[in-house]
Amino acid sequence: MIQRKIIKAQELVFQSVNRVMNAGRSQNPASPDQEKITRWQFNNLDAKSMPLLLFAREVLQNPRGVGAACPSSRRLSEAVAKMVPNHQGLVIELGAGTGIITEALLKNGLPPEQLLAIEKSSQLSAYLQNRFPQLKIIEGDALHLKDFIGDSQDKIAAIICGLPFRSLPERIVHGIIKQVELLLPEDGLFLQYTYDLMGMKEHLPHHFKRVAHKIVWGNLPPARVNVYQIDKT
Ligand SMILES: C[S@@+](CC[C@H](N)C(=O)[O-])C[C@H]1O[C@@H](n2cnc3c(N)ncnc32)[C@H](O)[C@@H]1O
Repeated sequence: MIQRKIIKAQELVFQSVNRVMNAGRSQNPASPDQEKITRWQFNNLDAKSMPLLLFAREVLQNPRGVGAACPSSRRLSEAVAKMVPNHQGLVIELGAGTGIITEALLKNGLPPEQLLAIEKSSQLSAYLQNRFPQLKIIEGDALHLKDFIGDSQDKIAAIICGLPFRSLPERIVHGIIKQVELLLPEDGLFLQYTYDLMGMKEHLPHHFKRVAHKIVWGNLPPARVNVYQIDKT
């Protein structure tokens, strides 16, 4: 009974989000004036609310795959960006979402050609490509990271993980960690942000050594950024 009510509520929210997302795209507008108003609303939505609505729709479609109720805050994204070494090689962002961390990395001075963003959702990756035309965005599963890198000789400086390891199936998480182990050099950094404030090394093998961490209270919920290096000896 309760579950049916939750499903119905989810459906209602989903329909409302879709309605707003599709505003201004109607094939048969009632009048030119009405079309003007809707397009004005849509254009303003584009700049401000579009990422939030896109994220909300993704959460409703795939809650476990997104694993968060809203995108990371500006404070969290700035904290992550500051912990990433600039000008030292390729930086890979796994699960870029609507690009809040991506934006902070670029603002912090990371050259666009040194950043590669991977996002599994086709809607979010299309949005990212539109938002950051200067970047290489790959629509794909982080599980196949090595295939995306191909024969590139670029040294990987850091892999930033925005993936919801706590809600993804264990098999997938282990597969992604294996890819990270395979690709990240010993002096490379693996950055993970998590809502687990206690800093348990969930899912990560023992040879992932934590070298830095920071708690960011200005996020909903507060989050912890963990930075690891892999001991390959
Ligand atoms: C918690 S959200 C983080 C989004 C964004 N980085 C932020 O901080 O706001 C997780 C993102 O990872 C993406 N994702 C989940 N599983 C993935 C996978 N296997 N490969 C690539 N992206 C994935 C989801 O679509 C979602 O956009």
